[in-house]
Amino acid sequence: MTAVVCARELVKKYNGFTAVRGINFVVRPGECFGFLGPNGAGKTTTIKMIHCFIPVTAGTLEVLGYDVGSHPREIKARLGVVSQEDNLDPELTVEENLLLYAGYFDIPRGEAVKRVRELLAFAGLEEKAGVEVEHLSGGMKRRLAIARALVNKPQLLILDEPTTGLDPEARHMIWEKMRQLKAAGVTLLLTTHYLEEAAQLCDRLVIMDRGIILEEGPPEELVRRHVGREVLELAPVDGEAVEILAKVDGGVLAHQIIGRTLYLYTGNGRDTWQQVQGLTGRFSHMRLRPATLEDVFLKLTGRSLD
Ligand SMILES: Nc1ncnc2c1ncn2[C@@H]1O[C@H](COP(=O)(O)OP(=O)(O)OP(=O)(O)O)[C@@H](O)[C@H]1O
Ligand SMILES: [Mg+2]
Repeated sequence: MTAVVCARELVKKYNGFTAVRGINFVVRPGECFGFLGPNGAGKTTTIKMIHCFIPVTAGTLEVLGYDVGSHPREIKARLGVVSQEDNLDPELTVEENLLLYAGYFDIPRGEAVKRVRELLAFAGLEEKAGVEVEHLSGGMKRRLAIARALVNKPQLLILDEPTTGLDPEARHMIWEKMRQLKAAGVTLLLTTHYLEEAAQLCDRLVIMDRGIILEEGPPEELVRRHVGREVLELAPVDGEAVEILAKVDGGVLAHQIIGRTLYLYTGNGRDTWQQVQGLTGRFSHMRLRPATLEDVFLKLTGRSLD
């Protein structure tokens, strides 16, 4: 099989509002593929079409070789979903949540019990097996949601903002689990608005904004292609950022002005820094730092991801 997910000119309209406006992407077997974008970009909408939760308005969408419109049962049997909202059953215990879910897939009881035991170990929740979900921490709930999504041994695991709202330790624990799954051959598809998460986990990603895909590629490549290695941030005390820009020549790949701050994207920050040092006029802010995906987003949209 060549593609795990293949979307062509995919469109989603909610009544009159177009949330996804003709997007194209391919998720390859075994990779971790990311959707990065701000609130309202259309990430969850796209995910929901992939797991056959909402119908496609136009275009084609194939998952694991099946069309979402004609073969939702085949698709749902082969994928796992960790949705953005917590939809665990709060009154049931950790173990009961997993067993209940195994029931939906007609997994025989003996096999289900064995699988649930393995998943509790994988999620680091063995000691919490008999605890009601409402008494778990946020990070534990998220690990349980991931364990639950794995009950049917999915070929594709979809995670919609897997670490939003978690503290750094809980987030790193989720990342570790995701890496383990990827090493075991599971294809991962995740959405996030955390740049670091996208950079850490994704082999390839798309940057999405207002229903369209702006860019696609491996995180490092996107950074190199759009903003080079380093960024020099400058805000003049007097005058306009654009006036500084006119005085800097050579070495600058691209620039962006947001408010009073000039962002110079450069392959060699030291050279650019030295040029700027030679300029007359004072700066209220001057900082040289490595370029990140945030800069790519800023350059493409003129807005920050937060
Ligand atoms: N059921 C719905 N009915 C009408 N509009 C909707 C519905 N669900 C989402 N939308 C709209 O579609 C757009 C995309 O929403 P979506 O939830 O896909 O964004 P998102 O990228 O997942 O954002 P977030 O990062 O906040 O989760 C938003 O403008 C949203 O208001
Ligand atoms: Mg969302």
